[in-house]
Amino acid sequence: MTCEILVLYYSRHGAVRHMAQLVARGVEQVAGAAARVRTVPNVSAVTEVRAPAVPDAGAPYVELKDLVECAGLALGSPTRFGNMAAPLKAFLDSTSELWLKGSLAGKPAAVFTSTSTLHGGQETTLISMMLPLLHHGMLIVGLPYTEPELTLTTSGGTPYGASHTAGPASDAALTEHEKKLCIAQGRRLAEIAVKLSA
Ligand SMILES: Cc1cc2nc3c(=O)[nH]c(=O)nc-3n(C[C@H](O)[C@H](O)[C@H](O)COP(=O)(O)O)c2cc1C
Repeated sequence: MTCEILVLYYSRHGAVRHMAQLVARGVEQVAGAAARVRTVPNVSAVTEVRAPAVPDAGAPYVELKDLVECAGLALGSPTRFGNMAAPLKAFLDSTSELWLKGSLAGKPAAVFTSTSTLHGGQETTLISMMLPLLHHGMLIVGLPYTEPELTLTTSGGTPYGASHTAGPASDAALTEHEKKLCIAQGRRLAEIAVKLSA
């Protein structure tokens, strides 16, 4: 049976979307694992207008059943003032039905982020993303220093999760170290999910 990992992200300028693709690539490197890539709709002050059910481009919007059906979760968000972005938080706030049933308890989860600046809150954002997952009883999977890029990087990459420093215009490409850490994170999460599902 294939062990599916939900790679769920929000991205406005594309950096976290690129990271999600690399995390998914890492998942797919593991025998018996597959990535299910999903995103969330934007939120705005105008709540009367709903986003179309299917996005114009990119990954489909996530549904609660994706969380239930998948054996693990990789969650990605750009930083917003050192915290996760509202669209992702809004989706997580809609998961109380799953929390009541304990649907996610015991499943492994990992987090990744992108910031403009080097010290602009990568760690705080990653930790803010872990909090609701811990309430759900998920098992947080970090990135160990056995990944050499974690020591070598001079931009993104943390033991709490993969990260990227996108620069003042939010357009810097991911470095080779950042890319390898995204792939390593997906691979590690999938390896653990496959073992737990066995
Ligand atoms: C409202 C808002 C708040 C932000 N807060 C921060 C911040 O606290 N620190 C930082 O370095 N970048 C901050 N940024 C920049 C984004 O996190 C950064 O550009 C990120 O790489 C965007 O990811 P994306 O390309 O996936 O949309 C902020 C951007 C916006 C729009």
